Amino acid sequence: MGTSDPRVPIAIIGGSGLYDLDGLEILEERTIETPFGMPSAPILIGQLGDRRVAFLPRHGKHHQFNPSTVPYRANIWALKSLGVFWVVTVSAVGSLQEDIVPGHVVIPDNIIDKTYRRANTLFEELAVHINLTHPFDPMLRQVLIDAVRQEDLPLHEDGTYVCMEGPAFSTRAESELHRSWGASLIGMTAMPEARLAREAELCYATIALATDYDCWKDEDEVDVTNVMAILKQNIANVRRILQRVIPAIPLEREEECDASRALQYGIMTPKE
Ligand code: ADE
Repeated sequence: MGTSDPRVPIAIIGGSGLYDLDGLEILEERTIETPFGMPSAPILIGQLGDRRVAFLPRHGKHHQFNPSTVPYRANIWALKSLGVFWVVTVSAVGSLQEDIVPGHVVIPDNIIDKTYRRANTLFEELAVHINLTHPFDPMLRQVLIDAVRQEDLPLHEDGTYVCMEGPAFSTRAESELHRSWGASLIGMTAMPEARLAREAELCYATIALATDYDCWKDEDEVDVTNVMAILKQNIANVRRILQRVIPAIPLEREEECDASRALQYGIMTPKE
């Protein structure tokens, strides 16, 4: 893809601690208004090697949006409007399993959605029921797994991500409940982001960075200071992973992703 091609096929949504991308030669900063309002920030469009990449900090340039107020619908709409198909996100998460040590990377393969006060569909006036069996795309997940392996970082190749509403962290009883479900990770942002991405027929996967053991292991473990300290130590790893991921995304294989046909099988409302 040359610089004259207006389409931007890849987007990175940065989570806490990641507000820009290394090596991205910025071409423009695009302010995009959507039917759902403004995205979290103007979208940076740049070039990494021979690839166009969009970058969006999920929580805003100055971390002004908490997980409940992130404009998820505007973010997904804005990326779609740029021609994005491949969406890689970065998220800080708590670990619900002993072997997922703070600092480890996890490429989750499923989600339990416990959020309850976020707009969670792009289709308010149509009955659209997309298939969400695998909310994270298997092909894109494999690209992420390969990149983490190449960096020789401690990696867990799958895991279920519980998405809670927040903004407070879990109670001890909630943390134990999530563990009893067999889940691996707890975070606050994968939903409705993953669901909206599927509705927009975007291919979506996440690099999750474990920052703490939530509160099931050590009651005083999880607070923002600890989370930010681990993030600071590990964000350089995430940046290196992304440098490997972007050139490795198989742009020519879009059609193989189920996401590219999500709406074909999902709309109940008859066409007039
Ligand atoms: N993000 C990072 N750590 C978390 C935790 N323990 N719970 C929810 N979200 C998190």
